[in-house]
Amino acid sequence: MPDEIFEPHWEKDGAKLFSGFDPSAIKTPAYVVDLGILESNLKILADVKKRTGAKILLALKGFAVFSTFPLIRKYLDGVCASSVNEARLGKEKFGKAVHSFAPAYSNEDIAGHLKYSDHVIFNSFSQLGRHKSVVQKSKRKIEIGVRINPEAKGADTDLYNPCAPCSRMGVTIKEFQPDKLDGVDGLHFHALCEQGAEDLANVLKRVEKNFGPHIPKMKWVNFGGGHHITRSDYNVDLLCKLITDFREKYGVDVILEPGEAVALNAGVLVASVLDIVKNDTDIAILDTSAEAHMPDVLAMPYRPTITGAEKPGIKKYTYRLGGVTCLSGDVIGDYSFDSPLRVGDKLVFANMAVYTMVKNTTFNGIRLPDIILRDKDGKLKVVKEFGYEDFERRLS
Ligand SMILES: Cc1ncc(COP(=O)(O)O)c(C=O)c1O
Repeated sequence: MPDEIFEPHWEKDGAKLFSGFDPSAIKTPAYVVDLGILESNLKILADVKKRTGAKILLALKGFAVFSTFPLIRKYLDGVCASSVNEARLGKEKFGKAVHSFAPAYSNEDIAGHLKYSDHVIFNSFSQLGRHKSVVQKSKRKIEIGVRINPEAKGADTDLYNPCAPCSRMGVTIKEFQPDKLDGVDGLHFHALCEQGAEDLANVLKRVEKNFGPHIPKMKWVNFGGGHHITRSDYNVDLLCKLITDFREKYGVDVILEPGEAVALNAGVLVASVLDIVKNDTDIAILDTSAEAHMPDVLAMPYRPTITGAEKPGIKKYTYRLGGVTCLSGDVIGDYSFDSPLRVGDKLVFANMAVYTMVKNTTFNGIRLPDIILRDKDGKLKVVKEFGYEDFERRLS
């Protein structure tokens, strides 16, 4: 394992929140989404809306379990989509506003967005020029936005940092063309990843410094995602102040589009131990996979919290947890437990609702985890089971 592995500092929240959960009857692998935790996150977001007048959308790229949309719809204003498929899912299953952004659109993409999207945001002035008139001629009223790049200090990992040097995300002030803003209703930026309101304050300073004179010409400014609003140490008061001040200063609506904050800690992945092997260290092989079922564990990389487990060496029995694919690096991490692991034991990985189901693959043909909802009384309902057909349908 890399020495410097990212340990999320909210990890204890996840383990705590899912306490009282009994995984013993669950057929694994399976994601379990807790509707009570989801709703408590939504209440925090609804409070931000109420205090500031901002609109908040669910970013489908992070969480798109549509059987939970009837609940989410009660609190949020719509969805943000990254493709025609997400826009369609938003329109058909969520049913409120659909705001779309993609680094570039083909003519076919735009034809799709004319059916499903209410806001279409362009990543460049050349894309705006190519598609603006078609969007403006649409029978449905569709608002147009341009994504700007504030070149602020963004996320620490370049993979997740839209403001990294030479990033393709958004128009920098050097490339900005104020004479082409005719017909543009709003500006959009997305610069954060799992960050606090203090980081947003810094980004806003850059936005105002670079683009301030153009903001009053707009109807709205979309602050993107990456706001970790529902994390226990997030400064919600500061967020509300930043939004309120911005709205008053520029006379624009403010939109936020978090993904992760909506379902933070609201889901777990339950897996079973299939075998225990030894190669200098004890290794447990699970019926899940970092590569296929929790890809950010490898991409970030980070070590997810497991209920009842600790970092290696802290409890008596330490194991390396490995996935069931052929990839040598399909390793979730090293963890310690109070008692030895046995074949059939169930492990519960915390904070697995976001950026998992939406990113999964069927690499090696391994089965996708089922999706289960847990209601406020702890009752479980399987809402999706995956099988061979799901693997076969993607190949020909
Ligand atoms: C344009 C845009 N909006 C919203 C989001 C959602 O971000 P998060 O899930 O971190 O809140 C992302 C994430 O990549 C994004 O790129």
